[in-house]
Amino acid sequence: MDIKKLTKNFGVKITNFDCSQTINNNDLEILKKTIQESHFICFKNQDLNGNTLAKFTKNFGDLEAYPEKDKTKGKIEIFNVSNVSEDGKHLSPDDQRVILQKNNSRWHTDSSYRYHPASFSILFGHETLPQEAIGGQTEFSNMLIAYDNLTEEKKTLLQPLHQVHSYNDIRRLEPGLPELTYEEKSNFPPVTHPIIRVHPDRSFKKSLYFTSNTSLEIGGMSLEKGKELHAWLVDYISQSQFCYKHSWEKNDLIMWDNRVLLHRVIPYDYAKYRRAMIRGTVEGKVPVLGPFSNEVRKLFS
Ligand SMILES: [Fe+2]
Repeated sequence: MDIKKLTKNFGVKITNFDCSQTINNNDLEILKKTIQESHFICFKNQDLNGNTLAKFTKNFGDLEAYPEKDKTKGKIEIFNVSNVSEDGKHLSPDDQRVILQKNNSRWHTDSSYRYHPASFSILFGHETLPQEAIGGQTEFSNMLIAYDNLTEEKKTLLQPLHQVHSYNDIRRLEPGLPELTYEEKSNFPPVTHPIIRVHPDRSFKKSLYFTSNTSLEIGGMSLEKGKELHAWLVDYISQSQFCYKHSWEKNDLIMWDNRVLLHRVIPYDYAKYRRAMIRGTVEGKVPVLGPFSNEVRKLFS
């Protein structure tokens, strides 16, 4: 396998490696170290289907299941991230599956609405936009670097704050989506996560942690002030110095660490272009810890 850096801050490109084959222990250790240090990997020229993507994803942990059981017809562990149906039809921009894709154009980390959000996401692009098309890239922003560049005043302001992450509130932001069932709502009640998180696997280094796809407010302050601060955070982390924009080539497989990076899709002409991807997601096993979480305070008291 050949590994090349993509930017000075984060991300690598891997060539001459086949993710559809069984991975030996040595290569797996290299990949685990690489994703921990670089947060983003693009594997070029892959050939995968749902089964081989699931097998590759399981190298890094258990597969996370899709939250809406009744809409997945049994295929709950590999998500169709597409404006193309599973049987190959180009979907209307009003289709609920496309509306969900549009919501992905807001900064987010996958499954932040869970008590234990996903660690890694692994996305295979089998139909991508032509080179001349506008949009369709996936952009990433590095929350470790964004935190480090905050002023001391902003760090102090953000330190005690939390955000509500609610799967049901995607419907508030995207009113075209149908209601969730009572069971789905009960399985995914709103959760809160700290805006500043600490990383026990990185010597308790701090980073930012917030999203725009489930709510646009910050708790612990007035509604108006919380909206203002959220809008400021969106502008702040969108600065190019923290970001890498991935321009897709057909058969790219990308993997990222949701604990460190936020991501968003750059909007494109959903009616004109087909964009078909499948995603495997590695289930998180631990809560998001903040500076005031009991587990952290106990260690430093
Ligand atoms: Fe996402």
